[in-house]
Amino acid sequence: MREETRSVIMVSKEARKRLENIGVLVVVGSGKGGVGKSTVSVNLAVALAKQGASVGLLDGDAYGPSIPLMLGVRKRTESKGWSAALPLADLKTQQRKIQPLTRYGVKIISVGFFIGEEQAVAPMPDALGLLMRQLLFSVDWGELDYLVIDLPPGTSEPQDTFCRELVVDGAVLVTTPQDIARIDTAKALAMFQRAHVPVLGVVHNMGSVLCPHCGELFEVFPRSTEQRNALDSIPILGDIPLDPGVVSMSDQGYPVVVSMPESVAARVFSEMAQKVTQRLAEEREGEA
Ligand SMILES: Nc1ncnc2c1ncn2[C@@H]1O[C@H](COP(=O)(O)OP(=O)(O)OP(=O)(O)O)[C@@H](O)[C@H]1O
Ligand SMILES: [Mg+2]
Repeated sequence: MREETRSVIMVSKEARKRLENIGVLVVVGSGKGGVGKSTVSVNLAVALAKQGASVGLLDGDAYGPSIPLMLGVRKRTESKGWSAALPLADLKTQQRKIQPLTRYGVKIISVGFFIGEEQAVAPMPDALGLLMRQLLFSVDWGELDYLVIDLPPGTSEPQDTFCRELVVDGAVLVTTPQDIARIDTAKALAMFQRAHVPVLGVVHNMGSVLCPHCGELFEVFPRSTEQRNALDSIPILGDIPLDPGVVSMSDQGYPVVVSMPESVAARVFSEMAQKVTQRLAEEREGEA
């Protein structure tokens, strides 16, 4: 079989595992980089925790883990030896579990906890899925209502491994308004649909800018000129404006739902979390 045909299509739904003690597994993805997946993941997880749920957040990006910075858990010194090569090297026996860190009521884990923030890890792309699956299973999550996975851009690994091996209850897509982002995000939509992962909806990010002077919203990027895009047919979970406060707060480790709860962005993130919960319930009803 050619390598590129070894995809999620080949796997039956029944072959997948449901994670023990974890109520709902939600992934946040997009075919496109830099559109706000990690920002959405963090604010979704924290907003769900603020609503009273027990929540975990797995940073699924080994090459560019963003969660540590966004949640204020920075590791500036470089790791050496095994711990630099693989965070899980001393966990081969799986007898010892990694304790996640808790921030804003969310249990978090990231490859970035094990390497310096300017240090590169270089797992082969094919090993990414393996690395992420092992990280996921090595953590002592306890009982969770939700586990949110922040995916890296693209439609290969570790997305393929997660979709093939786990019951993923829902996917949240994130896009910016440009054609180039929407087309790549439609690819992620196709990947999840092929894998029978319910797509809960799409978050439109940075379609407008919140002027820091007058507080007005205005459009910054050209709207998509595509007449039709597969994303048009899925529910919109929120329109998040580009707000300079999101970046500055996020870079200091404070998600806006915590640091600026009255901001437009924070309010949309909180509504987005409610819509995600509602969409998950609809999907469950649909299956029953
Ligand atoms: N609504 C927003 N307003 C202002 N800045 C934002 C907004 N959303 C995201 N950003 C900023 O844009 C940058 C990219 O966002 P983020 O890291 O969440 O994207 P990503 O899709 O996860 O990127 P990658 O593909 O590299 O994983 C970050 O600096 C983030 O703070
Ligand atoms: Mg990211």
